[in-house]
Amino acid sequence: MKVSVFGCGYLGAVHAACMASLGHDVVGVDVLPEKVDALSAGRPPFHEPDFAELLQRALGTGRLVFTSDSAAAADATVHFVCVGTPQRRGENAADVSHVDAAVGSIVQVLKPGDLVVGKSTVPVGTASRLADTVHAACPGAHLVWNPEFLREGHAVADTLEPDRLVYGVGTGDAHEETVVVLDELYATVLASGVPRLVTDLATAELVKAAANSFLATKISFINAMAEVCESAGGDVTALADAIGMDQRIGRSFLNAGLGFGGGCLPKDIRAFMARAGELGADQALTFLREVDAINMRRRVRMVDLAREECGGSIAGRRIAVLGAAFKPHSDDVRDSPALNVAAQMQLQGASVVVTDPKAIANAAQRWPDLQFADTVEEALAGAELVLVLTEWPEYVELDPAEAKRMVGEARVLDGRNCLDADAWRSAGWHYRALGRPRA
Ligand code: UGA
Repeated sequence: MKVSVFGCGYLGAVHAACMASLGHDVVGVDVLPEKVDALSAGRPPFHEPDFAELLQRALGTGRLVFTSDSAAAADATVHFVCVGTPQRRGENAADVSHVDAAVGSIVQVLKPGDLVVGKSTVPVGTASRLADTVHAACPGAHLVWNPEFLREGHAVADTLEPDRLVYGVGTGDAHEETVVVLDELYATVLASGVPRLVTDLATAELVKAAANSFLATKISFINAMAEVCESAGGDVTALADAIGMDQRIGRSFLNAGLGFGGGCLPKDIRAFMARAGELGADQALTFLREVDAINMRRRVRMVDLAREECGGSIAGRRIAVLGAAFKPHSDDVRDSPALNVAAQMQLQGASVVVTDPKAIANAAQRWPDLQFADTVEEALAGAELVLVLTEWPEYVELDPAEAKRMVGEARVLDGRNCLDADAWRSAGWHYRALGRPRA
């Protein structure tokens, strides 16, 4: 099939390359020429495991091109909307201006029978408004909402082997024909047994908001338990293991620590609350305010713990921070809890040195005042306190005895409950973590 993908960020670039790998002819459109140039040259503008190989293979087949000229989408019959919906400045609501602009470009090239497929995370009601725009511009074209559930760091696998596909189809959008087109697009994915659900537009939009809200709630739940464990002398990791064995609860997304960040969960729960408020359903989501508050408290608590460990003040103390990305296997630092903590400590007078295997360039752009080190060795050299804030495998697997020889004082705060506490203690480290007993 001939496919266009509007927006070539984490979602769009991966989606475009995956669609090409499934055998479709794909044109990726992005307004940023530098992104188009990098992708056309087979250079991913972000770190994502397996993506570079997939991109280069797809470019090699000639079935994938990138451009900033939206007219190049004229041959396509399926047009994906993959642009971002960031939080509006000074507000909780999502900024859908990029989605509106993408659909504005798509309608210029629409032909009867074409399908516009929204994948961006949007406030409920957006798809139905955009369906009207599409019908007004080209009465024979249709719009569906097909939310994306990929995680950064697993984007390729999540796109090619998702847990499920959701098609939101509006009334008057040629229900049967539309589902047939989407089934053809995803034929290979469906053939491997991936379930697909067909819903109305609003439900499809809500599925995405609800899924991210549930994940955020799970993380904040376990972090709330971590707070209680700290007061009561319990161990939140043992607690998570024990409750996670109940199949109704499940162990995943119960890792207590610094909490969630990134370009999705924080802004999505806020946008969901804002939209529920507009719909008169704000009471239904007031719990998400608490989920957000618990999450933000983790960052403050981490800095408090660092201060406690330094005898009441971190001013002038040399602190090593391992991790800048919002999670491992990503170079994304949007709303990164690790960088937030590093910056707070720097603002309180500490001499902070941050390292990360992939995210230093992005982190330095966002926080130019912080000091960055390319290697763990440089970051640890002479440190009086070490904070592990992103659970990259290279930090989890650090040899505590070797690390001890590099630092000034062997004190470590495990912000992700990812280190082997016993091993670090036996190597002579003073080890502390959020939600776990002192020794
Ligand atoms: C999230 C969702 O997981 C995806 O399904 C969704 O498609 C995506 O948002 C999106 O809306 O586009 P992502 O932001 O890539 O994906 O990252 P997650 O793996 O969900 O992690 C989010 C944050 O939660 C990270 O900061 C991570 O460190 C934190 N986290 C995760 C915890 O603190 N504890 C956990 O147990 C799990």
